[in-house]
Amino acid sequence: MQYNAGLHAEVNALLQTHAEEAPSVVLHLLTEKFDQGVVFSTSFGLEDQVITHLIFENALPIRVFTLDTGRNFQETYQTWSDTLIRYQASIEVYAPVEAAVTALLDQKGPNSFYTSVENRQECCRIRKVEPLGRALQGQSLWITGIRADQSKNRKDMNWLEWDDAHGLFKFHPLFHWDFERVRAFIDAHHIPYNPLHDQGFVSIGCAPCTRAIQPGEDFRAGRWWWEEASKKECGLHLPAATTKQS
Ligand code: ADX
Ligand code: SF4
Repeated sequence: MQYNAGLHAEVNALLQTHAEEAPSVVLHLLTEKFDQGVVFSTSFGLEDQVITHLIFENALPIRVFTLDTGRNFQETYQTWSDTLIRYQASIEVYAPVEAAVTALLDQKGPNSFYTSVENRQECCRIRKVEPLGRALQGQSLWITGIRADQSKNRKDMNWLEWDDAHGLFKFHPLFHWDFERVRAFIDAHHIPYNPLHDQGFVSIGCAPCTRAIQPGEDFRAGRWWWEEASKKECGLHLPAATTKQS
């Protein structure tokens, strides 16, 4: 869709009025506002599990999808299965184009991401970014589990943004939550979660590109740990400079 500054201001005002309400109430209001298509992307991390719970328990009209890169941890796949059982709901899957994966493997082998930032971004583009584009096609609002204190880049974001690359608005319902609040919600509602979170993994992506962190390390230190911190985004979420904040 085209950017609409009036709609952006209207939704910001709506969010401001309801800022203190439960996230399920806010999500419900947004589904009324964006009735042409609201989607939520999950990678089965703790934040995503909170949002999945809110959507399914409240039967919100929000499509839930995941990008299956083919390189996830077995624990992530188990969390996915446990989530389907718990909520008896469906989660759509977007997989990479097989020919693109085969060509990458033919030319560069299975671990090219360790050899340069360009090669890493190429793998992310094929396995995540291109499938994401298909998942977001024709939608008007994209819900994610991003929180402000996950990284320096993310602090510069806003809980409602316009995403130019995908032509839709983007909303992060837990943007102002801290990690402890997320964890407490998961525990209070007995929500299934990735057991790797109990082994020092905080931010979890593909298995070869994620490791546990040590106490005191940054939240995203375990993602693409061999790269400089400023390069650590895979292209799903572009920096604030390419989005409209209000
Ligand atoms: S990433 O850009 O570094 O991979 P991160 O793991 O922090 O993102 O997750 C932030 C949000 O991006 C998640 O809450 C989720 O909404 C979305 N996301 C990340 N990875 C995936 C995935 N594989 N499938 C679907 N959504 C994802
Ligand atoms: Fe490829 Fe690693 Fe990106 Fe996953 S996180 S798509 S394995 S480079």
